[in-house]
Amino acid sequence: MNPKKLTGEKAADFITDGMMIGLGTGSTAYYAIKKVGEMVRNGLNVKAVPTSKETADLAAEEGIELIELSEVEKLDITIDGADEVDPDFNLIKGGGGALLREKIVAAATERLIIIVDESKLVNKLGDFLLPIEVTPFNWEYTQKMINKMGATSEIRKKGGEIFVTDNDNYILDCDFGKIENPEKLTIDLNTIPGVVENGIFANMAEIVVVGYNDGKIEVMY
Ligand code: A5P
Repeated sequence: MNPKKLTGEKAADFITDGMMIGLGTGSTAYYAIKKVGEMVRNGLNVKAVPTSKETADLAAEEGIELIELSEVEKLDITIDGADEVDPDFNLIKGGGGALLREKIVAAATERLIIIVDESKLVNKLGDFLLPIEVTPFNWEYTQKMINKMGATSEIRKKGGEIFVTDNDNYILDCDFGKIENPEKLTIDLNTIPGVVENGIFANMAEIVVVGYNDGKIEVMY
């Protein structure tokens, strides 16, 4: 069975009636959203904040009621994917380009539940290129500042054109090698003018649900 589907559907078990939830972005979050849609059609009452335009469209198709983050004090849970997860539950996210909204929604959430297939588990972050969202204005100079911190980086492109995020920004995919101190790197990166947000999510995830290729599911706290 598809491990992404397994983990996505399993995470939906954490949702109970009346919750305010965050809905992640990507090919794993897709299965969680589909499952929530099914639960809503079976009578579940939830309100959801999407982390991207893509997720907003999918959730609306599924009949899930969408709200703005400003309408709630705190979200009960958010279910989202990740590109890498280390043993301390530090994450790299942003492979799909939604990292800014994902981080805002995660920060407004009591329990961030991360859903991944086993290929995303790593001992140390850094094999996956770290996505950093930057302003289009002056992006080459911002890139130089990031590279001075020890990275090599490339502007993300799609179909030959520079990829533009939901927030009208660009993404630099950055190779820092193995990241020894994710918490420090995320703080340091966000002090560079022109950096809007980076894809390190340190100390944010509470639960990681892993789907294995052999059909096993593990819920890690
Ligand atoms: C979206 O920008 C990302 O943060 C995704 O959550 C992450 O890339 C995982 O995506 P998949 O579940 O598609 O691998």
